[in-house]
Amino acid sequence: VKKLNIALVGLGNVGSGVYQILTKEIDLINLRCKNKIELVAVSARSKKDFIDQAKVKFYDNPLDLAEEKAIDIIIEVITEEKTAYDLLSKAIKNGKKYISANKALLTNRGFEIAGLVEEYNGHIAFEAAVGAAIPIVKSFKEGLAANKIQEFYAILNGTCNYILSKMSAENLDFDSALKQAQDLGYAEFDPTFDIEGIDTAHKLTILAAIAGNFKPHFDNIYIEGITTINISDIKMAFELGYKIKLLAIYKNLDQNSTFQAVYPTLIPITKKIATIDDSYNAILTYGNNCDWNFHVGRGAGRLPTASAIIADVIDMANDRFTYTFNCKADLLEDAKIIAINDRHGKYFLKLSLDYKLSKDNNSVAKLFLGGSKINIETSFFTSNKNGTEIIFGAIITAIKESDLIAEIAKFDQNLVKSSKFIRVEETGGF
Ligand code: HSE
Repeated sequence: VKKLNIALVGLGNVGSGVYQILTKEIDLINLRCKNKIELVAVSARSKKDFIDQAKVKFYDNPLDLAEEKAIDIIIEVITEEKTAYDLLSKAIKNGKKYISANKALLTNRGFEIAGLVEEYNGHIAFEAAVGAAIPIVKSFKEGLAANKIQEFYAILNGTCNYILSKMSAENLDFDSALKQAQDLGYAEFDPTFDIEGIDTAHKLTILAAIAGNFKPHFDNIYIEGITTINISDIKMAFELGYKIKLLAIYKNLDQNSTFQAVYPTLIPITKKIATIDDSYNAILTYGNNCDWNFHVGRGAGRLPTASAIIADVIDMANDRFTYTFNCKADLLEDAKIIAINDRHGKYFLKLSLDYKLSKDNNSVAKLFLGGSKINIETSFFTSNKNGTEIIFGAIITAIKESDLIAEIAKFDQNLVKSSKFIRVEETGGF
């Protein structure tokens, strides 16, 4: 039994949560560790965030921690990617174990990092990077390791889920809901990462790499955020029996290709994943042996994220190791991801119609006649606030996305003033 010395880099929202747990709950943590642990060093942008403790030394330069012989584990919770990479590579080369919550770093340089970790016989863990308190990285690498993951549908951004839930339940406008999410410490330093779907895509990239033994491949993923979703979309979707969630979607297709994308999605309200609100995240997975599996928990926030980081510390103190992306780095393959235009599925189609022209009962029906590939499953009409426009909302049966776009382009523009579509996902399982 040896003692492992921990250094914490970053004392922001998550870092302060790690600091709190490591100081207040150290006895419980050590009860669960074969090798006991102790926080001995901290580095942060400013020393004013640090509450002096006799046994914990403050470092102005985090890179110095990678040189300290006495440090065994570095926990990095900073947003700056370049500093994080420099720290990681120096730490791994100097034989330190490394814990990161840095999604962008793992996404953009994951393959290189996996190689480096193996070259130096090191260990990196990043449970907090995806789904915060949900142990989904461990689930994919350990509990579900006997499975080929065929598909998953995941709510992976607490900020977006919070915004959509608040808009839906409290009629709150987008900006006020975002402000609340920021005040609660859910949002990224740059919240466009959350609302534009980039954070979700980072997490999808990491999970897809683990699920399919792929090199992380962020650049090939189709990404659409929630900034175009308004209360009218949410209400119409609800009338049709659906809720709108920002989903990360992964599907194994034929010929070794995969579908991987992030977009706002209509999900039937009868599905459990549609009921997961607030800052909770959820991952609905289908594995070839385990069948359907559902994980839910807090996907953002100070202590939930710190909880995942401390779990990684405890793993390291018990010598529990797994490959970075679930197999040796040189066996990771390039993922072949199909283009979004080739998606085949259902859609919610919303058309804003000219008030007068739409009064002719046949005018709307005519849009979908004459060889149109669009087939309406259910639909209804409503009007905008001022009653100057009629809004037509419909669920349409499965169609190839490029065909849908081509059909929309053919609509009579005197009648159809504007149009939009939102993809519908009908998952299996719960
Ligand atoms: N901004 C992220 C979210 C934090 O809202 O989910 C957790 O990764």
